Amino acid sequence: MKESLTTKWQAPSNIALVKYWGKHGVQLPANPSISFTLDACRTITSVHARKGSHSFSIRYEGVEKPEFAPKIKAYFERISSYCPWINNYYFEIDTQNTFPHSSGIASSASSMAALSACVMDFESTLTGNALDYHKMSFLARLGSGSACRSLQGEAVLWGEHNDTDGSSNLYGIDQSELLHPVFQHFQDTILLVDKGEKVVSSTVGHDLMNNHAYARARFEQAHENLTTLKKALKAGDLKTFIKITESEALTLHAMMMTSHPYFILMKPNTLSIIEEIWAFRKNTDVPVCFTLDAGANVHMLYPSEHKMSVDQLIHNKLAKYCQNSHYICDQIGTGAKKC
Ligand code: PMV
Repeated sequence: MKESLTTKWQAPSNIALVKYWGKHGVQLPANPSISFTLDACRTITSVHARKGSHSFSIRYEGVEKPEFAPKIKAYFERISSYCPWINNYYFEIDTQNTFPHSSGIASSASSMAALSACVMDFESTLTGNALDYHKMSFLARLGSGSACRSLQGEAVLWGEHNDTDGSSNLYGIDQSELLHPVFQHFQDTILLVDKGEKVVSSTVGHDLMNNHAYARARFEQAHENLTTLKKALKAGDLKTFIKITESEALTLHAMMMTSHPYFILMKPNTLSIIEEIWAFRKNTDVPVCFTLDAGANVHMLYPSEHKMSVDQLIHNKLAKYCQNSHYICDQIGTGAKKC
């Protein structure tokens, strides 16, 4: 056993195209999902582990953050049977995000992915085994479901899916080889409509899919949409890509609006932006579409060759719908990296 271990990893956020909404057991998804891995929106985490009884400290941008501790404590408890060696170490965790903390962009995916990368890096040092990316994704899932899609590959699929060999409810699998060149450097501009805390957390939202009147139909639909979307990703069929991606975003929010209790995370400006995107697409034929996560912010997805015209659209029409005119320019990325 080593006296101490140190490492530093960065991991990106991801944006789901077919959405994960609903779970059972210990972080098992009710339906399969697929996401694009992002690049600019990342968490950078360094961990120093020293021999001693297990506990940890957590600092965010150099400042102690006791409010982050319960989530990390739960994470260590969940992973301890898979990584028993952690019980012999005290962990000093230092973390920071490349995107503003109060941007309304959830950092749970990138932060749990970065921490899991550090843990697996230590495990590889201790055992002499090569880095195990499936286990890294497995551990990240135990921290936050969608985090398992932030480790490796430009597109990652999570959840058992009949049309995908090797798919698993336990970890995400790299689907980069699917991507037609049209998706190379694919852009995601995130329009920050609301930077505040969500009124309903994802955990509560997932739970509301239990006994939801439309749950069964929704879960079946996700399987079908995934099959169709995979074909579109392979063929470079942007028309189908847009149709499925936008429908998935609206379906996610439709599930929220038809839960009991019901809730709405979109804001009036979210709808205004969607209408502007639809009008722009109709008038220009630029293949830009939107997706939403569990919040009011709008992700605009489009091929990089259209960056200039989309920039103009944002500048002329969309920035005014964003809080303090803020938006983040991101694009497809490859996953976690050691720093
Ligand atoms: O990983 P969680 O529990 O934060 O859930 C994420 C849910 C969505 O972002 C709405 C969809 C998804 O697949 O990422």
